[in-house]
Amino acid sequence: MSRHYDVEAIRRQFPVTERMLYLDSAHQTPLATSVRDALIAFYREGSETAGPKPVWLDRVEAVRGRLAKLLNAAPAEIAFTKNTSEGMNIAANALPLVAGDNVLLVEGDHPNNAYAFLNLRRKGVEVRFVPMTGETARAEMFAPHIDARTRAISLSHVTFHAGHRFDIAAIGALCRQNELYFVVDAMQSVGVVPIDAAASGANLIGAGCHKGLLVPQGLGILYCRAGQDELQPAYMAMSSLAHPPADYIARADNMALRPGAGRFEIGNLNLPDIHALDASLSLIESVGTPAIEAHLHDLGDRLIERLDGLGVGLVGPRARADRSPHIYVLDLPVEPWHAFLSSRQVRVSPERDGIRVSFGLFNTIDDVDRFARILTEHGTLPARASAAA
Ligand SMILES: Cc1ncc(COP(=O)(O)O)c(C=O)c1O
Repeated sequence: MSRHYDVEAIRRQFPVTERMLYLDSAHQTPLATSVRDALIAFYREGSETAGPKPVWLDRVEAVRGRLAKLLNAAPAEIAFTKNTSEGMNIAANALPLVAGDNVLLVEGDHPNNAYAFLNLRRKGVEVRFVPMTGETARAEMFAPHIDARTRAISLSHVTFHAGHRFDIAAIGALCRQNELYFVVDAMQSVGVVPIDAAASGANLIGAGCHKGLLVPQGLGILYCRAGQDELQPAYMAMSSLAHPPADYIARADNMALRPGAGRFEIGNLNLPDIHALDASLSLIESVGTPAIEAHLHDLGDRLIERLDGLGVGLVGPRARADRSPHIYVLDLPVEPWHAFLSSRQVRVSPERDGIRVSFGLFNTIDDVDRFARILTEHGTLPARASAAA
């Protein structure tokens, strides 16, 4: 049951739900049948015709357009990449940073965001880790760390390790006031939380597509706000150029870059995954991210209620405004809980501060209640019997 959409119909598209209690969408999505069928159809075309490449490339542009709509962006502001890390590295190397400049990151944020910027230390760029002072990262937290040489802030929209939802609108406004670049890792939020790229104030947003966008690993997206011609790609290929040579002979005399995100796209793309994304976007559009977010928040409210009843603490924020709708870390030691849950066909992730439960659009309130009942079967919780009834 869901107050927001026909979750039973969506659930029927996810065969994994018949085999296990899948509470690990923040790790990777299970595939929907429509997504699997899109991949099979692509491979069939590839095997029977060796690839109608012009048709495939037309479809790439159609998918780019749908993604742009999802993010409230223009198609020319979207590039396809390999994953989040590639997007973050493209961003870090594209910014016009010089020795003595500094960049602010959040302490404990995803390492794939941090290393992209730490790698700039060899150019003399300083990386400052800003400690989290409250339940979430707010603009005020960064203000004392900004000085005359601060050039950028980079952070996750939603954290993987405790489900914080950072206030990117306010941090984006702070960046505008201080003329800082703003780079966002939206790996955990895209497809789950509505993202308005235009309103966020972000210069660049990177994400992979194997969680909330519901396709297998190996495809990423990068939003690059229009009009930032000063951003230079570290890598270049014909596809980065405004006027690629029609005779395929490289020349140094016309290397003007494509405007927008296209300058960061190099070589052939992950066509199978882009076809899969066409199908997964149909699924996501049929529900809408506001409804997905609202449903997952309902599941989170129920989970918190059950955990309170069982005397299990929550690591990370409780308030809807500060938390992601789908990621909840339980203050339970990874050993023995991860093995115990695996033995009961419950898929969760071991996380740095406990057991991470994460929901996908196919999970239901019944899943949450079932999970709470399974927790009581371990026999070590200070549970009130009624809590998991
Ligand atoms: C916030 C965040 N960023 C990045 C990544 C992973 O990066 P990539 O897409 O490069 O594998 C994850 C994956 O778990 C993540 O949660």
